[in-house]
Amino acid sequence: MSHSASAPGERRWWEGSVLYQCYVRSFADSNGDGYGDLPGLVAHLDYLEWLGVDGVWLSPTMPSPDHDWGYDVSDYLGVHPELGTLDDLDALIKSATERKMRVLLDLVPNHTSSEHAWFVEALGSRDAKTRDYYVWADPGPDGEPPNNWLDATGESGWTLDEASGQYYFHNFLESQPDLNWWNPQVHAAFEQVLSYWFDRGVAGFRIDVAHGLYKDAQLRDNPPVQDPGDLEGRFGFDRIYSMNRPETHEVYRQWREMARSYAPERLLLGETWVFEPDRLARYYGEDDELQLGFNFPFAFAPLEAEVLAKVVGDTVSALGTGCPVWMASNHDIGRFASRWGAGDERRTRLGLLLLTMLPGTVVLYYGDEIGMTDVAVPPALQRDPMTMGNRGNRPVRDRGRTPLPWDDTAGRGFTRAAVDPWLPIGEVPGGSVAAQRAEPGSMLGLTRELLALRREHLSGSVAPYGELEVASDRWIFSVGPLVVAANFSGVAIRAALPPGADAVRCSSNMERERAVVQGLIELGPYEGVVISS
Ligand code: GLC
Ligand code: CA
Repeated sequence: MSHSASAPGERRWWEGSVLYQCYVRSFADSNGDGYGDLPGLVAHLDYLEWLGVDGVWLSPTMPSPDHDWGYDVSDYLGVHPELGTLDDLDALIKSATERKMRVLLDLVPNHTSSEHAWFVEALGSRDAKTRDYYVWADPGPDGEPPNNWLDATGESGWTLDEASGQYYFHNFLESQPDLNWWNPQVHAAFEQVLSYWFDRGVAGFRIDVAHGLYKDAQLRDNPPVQDPGDLEGRFGFDRIYSMNRPETHEVYRQWREMARSYAPERLLLGETWVFEPDRLARYYGEDDELQLGFNFPFAFAPLEAEVLAKVVGDTVSALGTGCPVWMASNHDIGRFASRWGAGDERRTRLGLLLLTMLPGTVVLYYGDEIGMTDVAVPPALQRDPMTMGNRGNRPVRDRGRTPLPWDDTAGRGFTRAAVDPWLPIGEVPGGSVAAQRAEPGSMLGLTRELLALRREHLSGSVAPYGELEVASDRWIFSVGPLVVAANFSGVAIRAALPPGADAVRCSSNMERERAVVQGLIELGPYEGVVISS
């Protein structure tokens, strides 16, 4: 099944595509336990096909004690019982394939759960067979942790295993021990994991903490950050020794070779949490490492013309022929309708239009298509141990993980009426999926229109991007055969268009489609338009 030929034009199928991040637990609950699951997703594939996405990336599906909601894996070859079975996953791949959609899984190679059999065996004895799968070090002279590396909560990243007298390292929670990538057995184990899922028809992986994996062999202290505004720094340290090690690139070269041995080629999409475009570009290698790496500076930029245009221009030039990835919401950073929209649906619509009209690959987060906003989850209902009660001074991640409101019945079409969903279901300014589907000018209608335009004009390759005009109130650019003009101010503006730009294909307000334009266009407050040329 795996080594079949791919259709022509499918070779770099991710270029110009739209992937949809499905946070399975919050998408659709098929059995009324309050948690979304794989059969629930299968039952809604028609919706995703109607919307026009090319693939679905599933947030972690593997068995896990859920201290970090699946990002603490206890078995890399299974399916979390709460989400379904291996048969359900096979059925999902089959059903998605029939609809020409691909399925990507989340892979967590930086660390395992402390309940993974490797770690259970490794604990307690220096001679354990899997001891070297993890990062161990002796205490300092006074029994203190081996170095200054911190974990995701701001505490020391080292936890003492009293029985063996050594510390193990964790970049995240103490129940997420980091793997030791200096050990060739770890490489072999992950190569098996990759081929196991590739052979099952999985189209690729989103790779968690892709800039992690290797740790400095000498365990040198991380230096303090130079610039306090440096987004890559955490708790005042630049994590150059506990992350971003050069040896990690060799892992991706190896995995890319494996990905290439399949047809269609399997996709490696890294969660590359780096803020320098050149650092990002390094993860693409010479087109021999990751095909895609998330662009966090874009997601964290304010909805301001000059800032966004600079991020896009810098990314495109740093990546060269590499394919950029644009995303504005996810399960960690919350939702763009809150960040960019800030209570004004015109801004949310503008943000969506820009996001979906950039060259390369676009990743939508479930609910982006209806303008879902962050939900203030009260302390008693919070479920994410990593950020509960703003632990580590971080925003509560549950805000962006709440269930999708499908309709306006009790249970919101997400779960059964009498059931409490695992996280509260928020109100969406523009209404539920069903309400918006009945309204062609809705945010959902806009998303569908934009994805159709993208498929028609920007898919199949990385469309050429050209900046035409940037000022504090406007950003005008060409992308493939289209021109995008955006007004970032609360008042109407007139914008000059390049020769040839002739008809409005889509406006973020959905009210001037097919209008003919020549030379100049008037843009309403926070309006964005896509024009054919
Ligand atoms: C990634 C995930 C996040 C998780 C962390 C540790 O950043 O997106 O949700 O907590 O890795 O696995
Ligand atoms: Ca369920």
